[in-house]
Amino acid sequence: MIDYLMKTIKDKLEERISAAMAAVSGQGGCTALVKPATDPKFGDYQANGVMALAKQLKTNPRKLAEQVVEKLDLSDICEELEIAGPGFINLRLKPDFLAGRLLGINADSNRLGVEQAATPRTVVVDFSGPNIAKQMHVGHLRSTIIGDCICRTLEFLGHNVIRQNHIGDWGTQFGMLCANYDRKLRQTSATGAAMRADAPLADQEAFYREAKSLYDSNAQFRKEARAAVVGLHRGDGVWTRYWEIIRKSSIDHCQELYDRLGIILRAQDVRGESEYNNDLAAVVKDLEKSGFAKESEGAVCVFPEGFKNKEGEPLPLIVQKSDGAYLYATTDLAAIRYRVGQLKADRIIYVTDARQSLHFEMVFAVARMASWAKDSTKLIHVTFGSVLGENGKPLKTREGENVKLKDLLDEAVERAKAVVEQKNPELPPEKKAEIAQAVGIGAVKYADYSNNRTSDYIFSFDKMLAMDGNTAPYMQYAYARIKSIERKGQINIEKELAKVKQLNLTEPAELDLAKQLIRYGEAIESAVADYRPNYLTTYLYELAQKFSGFYTDCPVLAAEPDKRPTRLLLCRLTELTIKHGLSELLGIKVVEQM
Ligand code: ARG
Repeated sequence: MIDYLMKTIKDKLEERISAAMAAVSGQGGCTALVKPATDPKFGDYQANGVMALAKQLKTNPRKLAEQVVEKLDLSDICEELEIAGPGFINLRLKPDFLAGRLLGINADSNRLGVEQAATPRTVVVDFSGPNIAKQMHVGHLRSTIIGDCICRTLEFLGHNVIRQNHIGDWGTQFGMLCANYDRKLRQTSATGAAMRADAPLADQEAFYREAKSLYDSNAQFRKEARAAVVGLHRGDGVWTRYWEIIRKSSIDHCQELYDRLGIILRAQDVRGESEYNNDLAAVVKDLEKSGFAKESEGAVCVFPEGFKNKEGEPLPLIVQKSDGAYLYATTDLAAIRYRVGQLKADRIIYVTDARQSLHFEMVFAVARMASWAKDSTKLIHVTFGSVLGENGKPLKTREGENVKLKDLLDEAVERAKAVVEQKNPELPPEKKAEIAQAVGIGAVKYADYSNNRTSDYIFSFDKMLAMDGNTAPYMQYAYARIKSIERKGQINIEKELAKVKQLNLTEPAELDLAKQLIRYGEAIESAVADYRPNYLTTYLYELAQKFSGFYTDCPVLAAEPDKRPTRLLLCRLTELTIKHGLSELLGIKVVEQM
């Protein structure tokens, strides 16, 4: 686990119980191992660390637990402590403590009771990174949205996050595109028509397809494409200009999708492969000078320790091919140099699919050998599985092509319209359209987030748009429903709650909801510790379910005066937490009405 963190209630319990264990045993480094209880029968949390300590001291664990409990004063937080089984300590939060926390959260509703990290880090997050010689397709979805969630969450905790969109904007495919651009330009000027620079790209999709098919079928065109690559590498003015135009048009297309998806990635976050071009020779030279790189079969290679091929021979990371060309790995080494040296990154997080694991392991190893990454620099590869079709194979169109991200989002919104229509036919059409956008895009993102990122998952519109279950529409509806309580009561909830100084938590459903509310920080902590957005979605889903239970059992607007403020506050904090989780951390829009 990585120390991004702020103190949650669990951390506070951990600290105090660990201290009591240390005092009783005279041992340093005691850990209480506080975990959420597996069953409410055992309370809210349990400390499991006494058994290990007893083993170490060769003493009876139950006796030791008794001594620890004796030493502990948790009366400000917990009910009387209970020892269970061989030496677990069961902890149950006091209603007074819960009430105090809820009031605290209400008073500081921007942070919802979540502390900032004690030590802010400079974290570079490398995500999305499409190869822009093609349109963005479903294969770019996961890196883009998981990366964005990681950035948003770390920022919320107070870290200095630097987003890097390491786009593939260099390479032989651009020769093909530049040659096609040139061809189209010649065609149009032959007709004598004046033309805007990006006119040949008006239909980007057709332009790419055309380039590829010419390349595959036409020897003359292949020759032109190769000449374009040579020209580009030499830095020839005309080819460079064509490349810039194509690159810009492609980035604009990505930007449209980022905006639609609610992804925070801007032009200034783009630093693609091409921008490291001028550093590549120096990277190789440095590696040669320090003796790490050797020539092997004409190529320049580094053999980092511990990497072997199937035959057990040392595995090379190739940094320059025998024809002089540099590779993906060379660029990644240059990027690490830049990120540590210029951006002052303490941590660099790479969000790509699991197939690139070996690449990053080797690049990280070489960056350490060369001291481009310092000992203190953490290099982290956050991997994910594939998006599958209903047939269990990678999602493709009927023609066997990659599904364009744009088409996927269009269809999601189209289908969401039907859901909205069914749920609330009386809404005005503009409202319906707005809600369908939020629900459609939200559903695609939420479905991805709610899956364990390291597994593959089956992409199903029906499932992700279902009104019940752990889905975006369910969560969005839960939010809208709380909003509707306020509308129905015609109250200014903020105003009504501003004066509340005391709560009255008694009903099991109230307590249950209160306990979930105060655990938002814990959910964020576990999500960020392992870069897993599904901990957030799980938390939010449970929150919505607990709210549902509460709302069934406990009247709110019709509550007695001694109960009404407490219940209104529970509504309000649930609303704020769902909104924050969805819109701030997951980048999913909420709607007031559904
Ligand atoms: N362009 C790469 C791809 O499409 C992803 C880039 C990931 N980042 C990196 N620094 N290599 O696979």
